[in-house]
Amino acid sequence: MTTVFVTSSGTNIGKTFVMLRLIAELLAAGRRVRALKPIASGFDAARPEGSDTALLVRAQGLDVTAASLAAASPWRFAAPLSPDMAAALEHRSIPFDALLAACRAGADGSDVTLIEGVGGVMVPLDSERTVLDWIAALGTPTLLVVGSYLGTLSHSLTAVAALRQRGIAIAGIVVSESEAQPVSAAETAATLARFVGSIPLRVLPRAAPVPLLPLLEDYLA
Ligand SMILES: Nc1ncnc2c1ncn2[C@@H]1O[C@H](COP(=O)(O)OP(=O)(O)OP(=O)(O)O)[C@@H](O)[C@H]1O
Ligand SMILES: [Mg+2]
Repeated sequence: MTTVFVTSSGTNIGKTFVMLRLIAELLAAGRRVRALKPIASGFDAARPEGSDTALLVRAQGLDVTAASLAAASPWRFAAPLSPDMAAALEHRSIPFDALLAACRAGADGSDVTLIEGVGGVMVPLDSERTVLDWIAALGTPTLLVVGSYLGTLSHSLTAVAALRQRGIAIAGIVVSESEAQPVSAAETAATLARFVGSIPLRVLPRAAPVPLLPLLEDYLA
């Protein structure tokens, strides 16, 4: 059983897009996949269809029901804010131990568990922890999704440095092509490659998605 945590340099970069690609590739390879986004903010309970949670549920071939949404995203908040702020607005909090337990529960029934984080690597979860603490406590490798927009180089390398500082393994970096980019995503990837050592990089173009599963091959039993 393998668990991979899909994180990012920020929000709206392509984590869910990458999750959906990986789920499809894993299912096509005959793997049993479990995909979850334990914390979802900006979740509209009246119209859950377009949410990340619903997309992940459907990609696994499951029906979108109250139960499947709750299983994929146990912590759902209405405000499109960082989890600490979104939870506070609802007078709620995210118990860290329960968060870790939710990530681990049910893992036995699948070959691969894909966990989508929330926002970027250092988004606060509560008054003292960020996504980095969450990944470090799980001890899973990460797939880092970055964009090709102007400014991504510093955002991406900062995310890599933060993950490395906590001893978190980076299985690969996916440069998911942004809507607007000053140079090609391949040029961005080539520049990143000069600064990230041996971490494998893949460009995920808008026009023709490429296979991402090879990035996880070392981690798949
Ligand atoms: N490589 C790509 N090709 C085409 N569309 C993409 C690509 N990467 C991202 N997108 C699109 O960009 C938008 C934002 O991507 P996505 O929802 O995956 O971001 P995210 O990192 O999961 O955001 P959030 O932090 O809200 O979870 C979506 O509409 C997605 O389909
Ligand atoms: Mg998402």
